[in-house]
Amino acid sequence: MFAKVSSLGLFGLNAFPVDVEIDISRGNPVFEIVGLPDTVVKESRERIRAALRSCSISFPVASVMINLAPADTKKSGSVHDMAIFMAILRAMRMISEDTDGSSFIGEISLNGDIRRINGVLPMVMLAREKGIKSVFVPAENAKEASVIDGVDIYAVSNAEELIRHFRNEERLSPCERYIPPEAAYNEPLDFSDVRGQQSAKKALEIAAAGGHNALLIGSPGSGKSMLAKRMPSILPPLTFEEALETTKIHSISGLLTPEMPIITKRPFRSPHHTISSAGLAGGGTVPHPGEVSLAHNGLLFLDELAEFDRKTLEILRQPLEDRKVTIARASGTVTYPCTIMLIGAMNPCPCGYYGHPKRKCICPKNKVTGYLSKISGPLLDRFDLHIEVAPVEFGDLSSKIKEESSAEIRKRVIAARAIQEQRFSGTGITCNALITPDKLQEFCPMDDAAETLMKNVFDRLGLSARAYDRILKVARTIADIDGSEVIKKPHVAAAAQFRSLDRKYWNE
Ligand SMILES: Nc1ncnc2c1ncn2[C@@H]1O[C@H](COP(=O)(O)OP(=O)(O)OP(=O)(O)O)[C@@H](O)[C@H]1O
Ligand SMILES: [Mg+2]
Repeated sequence: MFAKVSSLGLFGLNAFPVDVEIDISRGNPVFEIVGLPDTVVKESRERIRAALRSCSISFPVASVMINLAPADTKKSGSVHDMAIFMAILRAMRMISEDTDGSSFIGEISLNGDIRRINGVLPMVMLAREKGIKSVFVPAENAKEASVIDGVDIYAVSNAEELIRHFRNEERLSPCERYIPPEAAYNEPLDFSDVRGQQSAKKALEIAAAGGHNALLIGSPGSGKSMLAKRMPSILPPLTFEEALETTKIHSISGLLTPEMPIITKRPFRSPHHTISSAGLAGGGTVPHPGEVSLAHNGLLFLDELAEFDRKTLEILRQPLEDRKVTIARASGTVTYPCTIMLIGAMNPCPCGYYGHPKRKCICPKNKVTGYLSKISGPLLDRFDLHIEVAPVEFGDLSSKIKEESSAEIRKRVIAARAIQEQRFSGTGITCNALITPDKLQEFCPMDDAAETLMKNVFDRLGLSARAYDRILKVARTIADIDGSEVIKKPHVAAAAQFRSLDRKYWNE
């Protein structure tokens, strides 16, 4: 007896269709799974045997051969359990309803419960693309799956439910489409808590408005971590497409919960400086996304930047430029997107007081150089904004003046993003930081005075071509906040001023 049931598989972020073919024939009682299964797939034999028993169905005393097609693609995990279970029932003629047009994904536990799996969102997106009418998913994954329009999602809690549905005894109803509620704006940390620091706050506003990378540098206690942790409160909302892209990465990493089935806010990831290269950029035998991809469409904050392993930091260079990480393994190559804003924070030396206006640095010169050299020139070049966080003045700390709230700053950020959205419509670019070199001239027109200043800055500071591009993009953002279509001299001046720290600290 032969039967075929459809399932879906996943490699990296790429989903692919899997056909579970079964042949039950007379002969020695064996249960084989072929088609490049990993050990977890092979173990599904035991789970399915027990699950059938829990539904009072005895396992056929026959030769049961399962093939997961296409046979040349590696199958991993427990995602095909439900489809294998259904294939057995079909081949044994235990169900009356047709399973064609339906896909099954989910793990079966020994007592027949259907367990949640990772990566449901990209698999359901593929099902829609392939014209599959309905997908049966674990109940805990149902909300995540129902975000996708155009395919019926059935939430299954246990094998009994599945059997009753396909015996037409008690039909399951498709889930209602889940429309994620607009993310409420209630950030606990607000910029109004930060006294003074106007220049640093302005720089972070520019970073948020244009999606630029920023490096905060200053003495201990000057408020670097405090400032960076308030960035989520001024980031613009995620668009639905961005939310789906980011959710896909969180989905395959198993970070979604029934309470939070879709990411609706820009991610803010702040890994500790002891993180490994694989943890930061992604890796492992089955390559998983790293922090840089989990922060996709959001912000990656690396506090105490100089304490990170130098090699680990260098790995970020390519992903920061290409906005994607490609990991090659024997089993295949996976690519994870990482369009992020990188915010780094660091002291200028081991004691922290190098360059401090009042306190003396006690580090020998070579220690300072050694400390700063942990951030290589090319990495430093990738920070569009270098922000010096000066020690807070007593006057600012004790002042009764009310500081501007994050909500006010965010309004300007959103307005600047709206200008960018209009400008880049149809180009695939989403913010100024992502303008490609070939589009720089078109999107960053300067008036004569701005151009003259730019030339002076370039000659005087000995800028790299990348630094030039980045200053121009930051100037573009400052002009957008200013509501100016053309980039003017003050915009270039302000942008260039935020590229001065490399000379103050690194080039002495
Ligand atoms: N501008 C400020 N307004 C109000 N409080 C501040 C300000 N700057 C610093 N503080 C206070 O100082 C504390 C320490 O600041 P924070 O941890 O941000 O310093 P840091 O620059 O990150 O220091 P380190 O280099 O040691 O990491 C804050 O938690 C806050 O209470
Ligand atoms: Mg800190």
